Amino acid sequence: MATQLKDDESQFLQDSFQQQLSRWNRRRLSPGFPDDWSADRFNEDQRMARLEHAFIEELRAEVRVEAAQAPTDVDGFIAWFEGLEATGPGQHDSLFPWLAEDARMDHIRWFLSQEAAGEAGFDDLVAMTQVKIPDRAKMELARNYWDEMGRGNIKGMHGPMLGQLVDLLDLDTCIEHTVWESLALANAMTAMATQRCYSWHSIGALGVIELTAPGRSAHTARALRRLGLSTSQRRYFDLHAVLDIKHSADWNEEAIKPLVAADPRRATAMAEGALIRLRCGARCFTRYRAHFGLD
Ligand SMILES: [Fe+2]
Ligand SMILES: [Fe+2]
Repeated sequence: MATQLKDDESQFLQDSFQQQLSRWNRRRLSPGFPDDWSADRFNEDQRMARLEHAFIEELRAEVRVEAAQAPTDVDGFIAWFEGLEATGPGQHDSLFPWLAEDARMDHIRWFLSQEAAGEAGFDDLVAMTQVKIPDRAKMELARNYWDEMGRGNIKGMHGPMLGQLVDLLDLDTCIEHTVWESLALANAMTAMATQRCYSWHSIGALGVIELTAPGRSAHTARALRRLGLSTSQRRYFDLHAVLDIKHSADWNEEAIKPLVAADPRRATAMAEGALIRLRCGARCFTRYRAHFGLD
């Protein structure tokens, strides 16, 4: 088994690499034209894809032992997975009650700027993950995606809803001003959704977001309400405090259950993906608390 590295010994868990990976993701995922392309791009893409893979392998090494202990039968796995809400890495961090009750507007603005910059776009992650997956799970990802799309109503799209709050609060979400922990979270989610060898990891990671987002969203919504934001301005967080409870139940029932029933190895992969996602989140909360002088 690989010995665990401390964060400051990793070539990946630092500003320069995460900024580089974020810039590459932004460039490679943007719609473009043939003339944007050159032989250099292929070389850079190959080099970055290898580094991205090595980054995820390092994160996997941290969670592999714990994930291997997750049951691989359907009911056992769902119980283990749902248990992550209470006991998973970073869950019920003291940061969130502080945000809800005590944080000032400048604290909230910094927190939201980090969170918005570290948001890889749940809709696109779902869309990229669903490619070639079995039908029943694909249908669940489609339903989830349709909710992200506001069920066909542009005003109900989740991504732009967060974008409106970013504009309202004039948040700085540029890569260079984002802590590496937030970039690493977005970069890990993007890697798992795009590299097909991590497709089951991505389903686990997206599922654990649905499982854990309601608690964080409720605290954030309380902070925004306390600081005087209106119902429409708080809408993104109010919505996710409630809707993701249903999203999580449906994801577990319609995506995770049939996928694990058909191949129990997927349980271990999903467990790794979920733990990778939660550990990335936990690193963010630790960094945010340090930034706010809370420890
Ligand atoms: Fe959403
Ligand atoms: Fe959701």
